[in-house]
Amino acid sequence: MRPWPTDRIALGGDYNPEQWPRATWREDMALMREAGVSFVTLGVFSWSWLEPAKGEYDFGWLDEVMGLLHENGIAVDLATATATPPPWLSAAHPEILPVDRDGHTLWPGSRQAWCPSSPVYREHALALTTQLARHYRDHPALALWHVSNEYACHNLPCYCDTCAGAFRRWLRQRYPGLDAVNDAWGTAFWSQRYTDWDQILPPRRTTTFANPTHQLDFARFGSDTLLDFFREEKAVLVEHSPGVPVTTNFMTLTHFRHLDYHDWAPEQDVVSTDHYVIESLEHPRAELAFSADLTRGIAGGAPWMLMEHSTSAVNWQPVNRAKAPGQTIRDSLAHVARGADTIGFFQWRQSRAGSEKFHSALVPHAGRDSARFREVCELGAIAGRLGEVRGSRVEADVAILWDYQAGWAASGPAMPSGDLEYALVGQSIHRLLRGRGITADVVHPSADLTAYRVVVVPTLYLVRDEHAAAIAAAAESGAQVLVTFFSGISDEHDHVRLGGYPGAFRDLLGVRVEEFFPLLPGETVALSEGTGRLWSEDVTPTTAEVLGVYAEGPLAGRPAVTRARAGGGSAWYLSTLPDDQSLDAVLGRIVTAAGVSPAAEVAPGVEAVRRRGEHGSWLFLANDTAQEQTVEVAGHDLVSDRPVGSVVLEPGGVAVVREA
Ligand code: GAL
Ligand code: ZN
Repeated sequence: MRPWPTDRIALGGDYNPEQWPRATWREDMALMREAGVSFVTLGVFSWSWLEPAKGEYDFGWLDEVMGLLHENGIAVDLATATATPPPWLSAAHPEILPVDRDGHTLWPGSRQAWCPSSPVYREHALALTTQLARHYRDHPALALWHVSNEYACHNLPCYCDTCAGAFRRWLRQRYPGLDAVNDAWGTAFWSQRYTDWDQILPPRRTTTFANPTHQLDFARFGSDTLLDFFREEKAVLVEHSPGVPVTTNFMTLTHFRHLDYHDWAPEQDVVSTDHYVIESLEHPRAELAFSADLTRGIAGGAPWMLMEHSTSAVNWQPVNRAKAPGQTIRDSLAHVARGADTIGFFQWRQSRAGSEKFHSALVPHAGRDSARFREVCELGAIAGRLGEVRGSRVEADVAILWDYQAGWAASGPAMPSGDLEYALVGQSIHRLLRGRGITADVVHPSADLTAYRVVVVPTLYLVRDEHAAAIAAAAESGAQVLVTFFSGISDEHDHVRLGGYPGAFRDLLGVRVEEFFPLLPGETVALSEGTGRLWSEDVTPTTAEVLGVYAEGPLAGRPAVTRARAGGGSAWYLSTLPDDQSLDAVLGRIVTAAGVSPAAEVAPGVEAVRRRGEHGSWLFLANDTAQEQTVEVAGHDLVSDRPVGSVVLEPGGVAVVREA
């Protein structure tokens, strides 16, 4: 077994040699060395090459590739190759194919066309995993096992009959009986009461709004089902290839929410994730930062692996534009700043054929003689100097709570406002804090909140009692807690907490709300400071003091921003989403009250994040503005490899300063 590279931040990516002739493999090795590639992920989509017919295995070509990589000192993250079944399997067993909400079969011809509950699929996948684990267990290039690939990317939820049966079994384990399911789902409503388990179906397309708790439980079931499959694959690896760490690549991009990664993380030897910048977003770089901070939260603060991102364009957005010069480096370091100890890409060499032929790679269509490959080589040199950063932790005094299950519930049918996207408020607050040079951990409500000076609770619509209690305890013990509208509304079954909103947080916040007044698309409401959008409420303070009010309309004079004393800390409430400037002003008051200071004094638009280890600290800087920026910091810049007293950053420029 090869240890994961520790003298550098590992750089590499998905390697798909089966798409190329052998002569190219030799060239690949030379170019990988030139670029400073220290790992590859191998075999992700190789099933049909490794098992051309049932039970007939052909590992010869992979042996050759593994040998070449070993000779060249490159560590292998070896996939179990079970992400996509070969055509012979789906032809022999069409029952493994997933089915959509309308009952349409999703046919083979793309990838991941398998039902998450299919026992037939599992059996075949586990057989291949067993063979691979036995064959490569002692291979000197093997450093890490990569189970499947991006679970749930395309095949969840599946509404097939196999899933219907599996869903019923899952419910029987979760609930003491059918009555309990009826209670939890509130089936007294609309004559939905079940009298036999077999009447329960996946939430297939129906006439109008589906039962929200039925949908919520089906989402939980989907995540649990795939996690169960992951565990089975992992068990095979642990049995036949003991001692080799195991991971699967998550998708912590904020728009991807099929899996509850907080449940998945404890099963990983190292948390790894994929991230792709979506340039069409209003704040693409803030989304990257949020996603990275979420990944770190999922990893419990430990360093994590960026398994995939892109050197340049992707192929799956409506318009796919190449990245600007320098952006490969800047995006990579943005992840490292926030705790990644690995820089991985999809993929090593840009495909000639297939639906990803216009997706960028480390070696583009233009070949070695290209600006992108030169930038990759530059990144390789930087990664080589960043080894000392490995293992250090990101400093953050602020926690922003994120709960996939609250997100599922909040995205349920027939809500007060269809415009309230779960991630929006948390991301807005995160972005404004980032603009102040303040780093936040994005963590689950069950995380240990005691060390944070500020705890932000954005639109935590569904909240469990114990989580609400932990949030209140954080305020009691001195934190500034900021809760936003549409938090604490429902319990774990998505039943509304009665007696007035915001249910679980009413006492903590010292406010009571009887009705919601969400704003229409584009509508704003004047506040005593700035304007609000998206939401408004008629807030009655019980113990809270009023810090800001609505300045017009039916709520004129009613509270928009409040604060209540809570033990050693305070509990702030926002009943609307203020414009950036006004929200930033509220955040400014909160961080001042909490005594939180930025990682460095930087101009707005300059990102500053600090990682700290046993033997030092590193300040990561990135200039997102269009002007040159100077930051006062003394030490050694590992990007330019020069001692610095202050750093001058070009637009788009980056620095990683080992602080004196
Ligand atoms: C990921 C996937 C890769 C590749 C990449 C393209 O979702 O794991 O195999 O398809 O996207 O951006
Ligand atoms: Zn299914």
